[in-house]
Amino acid sequence: MTTATSGLGVGVLLREGTRRLEAAAIPTARQDAEWLLATVLGLPRFDLYLEPAREVTAGGRDRFWALVGRRQAHEPLQYLLGFEDFVGLRIRVTPAVLIPRPETEGLVEWAVEILAPLDGPVAADVGTGSGAIACALAAACPALEVLAIDSSLAALGVAAGNVRAAGLSARVRLVAGDLLAPLASLAGGLDMIVSNPPYLPTGIIPSLPREVAGFEPRLALDGGPDGLRVIRRIVAEAPGLLRSGGTLLMEIGEEQAGLVASLMAAEGFSRIAARRDLRGVERFIAGQVGG
Ligand SMILES: C[S@@+](CC[C@H](N)C(=O)[O-])C[C@H]1O[C@@H](n2cnc3c(N)ncnc32)[C@H](O)[C@@H]1O
Repeated sequence: MTTATSGLGVGVLLREGTRRLEAAAIPTARQDAEWLLATVLGLPRFDLYLEPAREVTAGGRDRFWALVGRRQAHEPLQYLLGFEDFVGLRIRVTPAVLIPRPETEGLVEWAVEILAPLDGPVAADVGTGSGAIACALAAACPALEVLAIDSSLAALGVAAGNVRAAGLSARVRLVAGDLLAPLASLAGGLDMIVSNPPYLPTGIIPSLPREVAGFEPRLALDGGPDGLRVIRRIVAEAPGLLRSGGTLLMEIGEEQAGLVASLMAAEGFSRIAARRDLRGVERFIAGQVGG
């Protein structure tokens, strides 16, 4: 039912919202205006097309303009909506966590190829953030147990909600700690360590889109002067934690594949291989311990 308070309908709000977002140089202005209005109205986005004359209450309009204003300031759409879809799961996001990226689905795909044939595998997701990777892996591999680690308690709070919402609490355990430190008691028992670590060189962060540099957690982005500060530690510590034949699988930055492959070779990893993302960038790297 429509509770109208003025002649301002969906079509008018979308046009004006799009105009304001275009003026703020938002490339996906129309699409974002649709998402924001659909959220305010509690409707699927598609329904906006069915009822362009539907009137919006004063309260609804106020909420819409407030969200448009935040988007004009380049706050990421996903933080305004409160979610991002990732490998078929709706992942709740807040500014405490990195917004899961479409390319990271390629990391999950590769991990599932390796884990699915194993009998009762155990994996660690290092730097779990929203828990997107841990949830996607556990959802795809019904026998898998995942330890999901992050040093950010705020991120773990978001991840806990996502694990619960996906019904995976029995198989995804969230652990607070510094990289691989919480895994010490499992030494030699892990089938996989998977990670999308912070890998951006500190110096490039200010040149990233405002959505990223101004809003996403610095801890999730900053990989130190050459981008490899966290990756070096993971590569050095992983061999002592993986079982023989176990895999280290990481997402990495552009042009890091050669360097990371050398680091892995120096730590004794074998069968080191990289895979490209949808843009053709060598984005993922894996290697095995022993076996
Ligand atoms: C690039 S984000 C990845 C988040 C999530 N896994 C994803 O792919 O969407 C990196 C994550 O690593 C975490 N992190 C950074 N340094 C860490 C450390 N020393 N120990 C544990 N987690 C860390 C950050 O808090 C952040 O959640």
